[in-house]
Amino acid sequence: MPILAANWKMYKTIGEAKAWLDAVAGAPGLGQAEVIVFPPLTALAALRPKATRIALGAQDVGWADAGAFTGMVSAPQLRDAGCGFALVAHSERRRYACEDDPAAARKIAALWGAGLTPVYCVGEDAAERASGQGEARLKQQLDTVLDALSGELGGRLLIAYEPLWAIGSGRPATPGEASQAAELIRERVRLCCGQAAAHEVGVLYGGSTSPATVRGFMDEPQIDGLLVGSASLDPRSFLAMLEVMVDA
Ligand code: 13P
Repeated sequence: MPILAANWKMYKTIGEAKAWLDAVAGAPGLGQAEVIVFPPLTALAALRPKATRIALGAQDVGWADAGAFTGMVSAPQLRDAGCGFALVAHSERRRYACEDDPAAARKIAALWGAGLTPVYCVGEDAAERASGQGEARLKQQLDTVLDALSGELGGRLLIAYEPLWAIGSGRPATPGEASQAAELIRERVRLCCGQAAAHEVGVLYGGSTSPATVRGFMDEPQIDGLLVGSASLDPRSFLAMLEVMVDA
């Protein structure tokens, strides 16, 4: 089943989040794709009772299960709040909250420990791409984390390729570029964790996706789904993306 995930970032009040869910909840395509919403934490409780065919996720997670960690929310707490997923090391967390690869590995382990699915975000920036260092950056982000996890998957793992130059720029990667990155991701997982793990891992693309670009990405066999930012905020464009995805 293809995966369509909505990362709302720091947008939407509780009322706006509920209105979005009301608009999307009856969509026929919901049974044919795995739909995951990453709302702000403040909206989780309001969405939970209505999110029957939509999974909920958090945009970040603490690496400890409990303790004196002001401002953090743990994986067991997210499970308790109805989350099945969490983003890990989104580029905006890397940039604004100094999140690094070792912290990402701890967060992934914490999520698996609580039975949640991590969505580990990787991607190179414009300068790395321009200087031909894009692949090296991806390998570093993947190998550091997979090695720290002892080369074993402790649960389901989704990896999102989100090149920084594409996020919020209106210029998505081409399906070919995204597919090449997805291939590299599976290759690193195979080398670190074995063939079965490489087969099982789900690879998403994210960065300026829109209804017009869904089909191109979903035509690539290496890509299992999309992680959508701004085009997910309006339920109409999100539903348009879902429609294309389940038709593809
Ligand atoms: P945009 O779709 O707004 O480029 O954001 C992508 C993203 O960061 C999803 O996590």
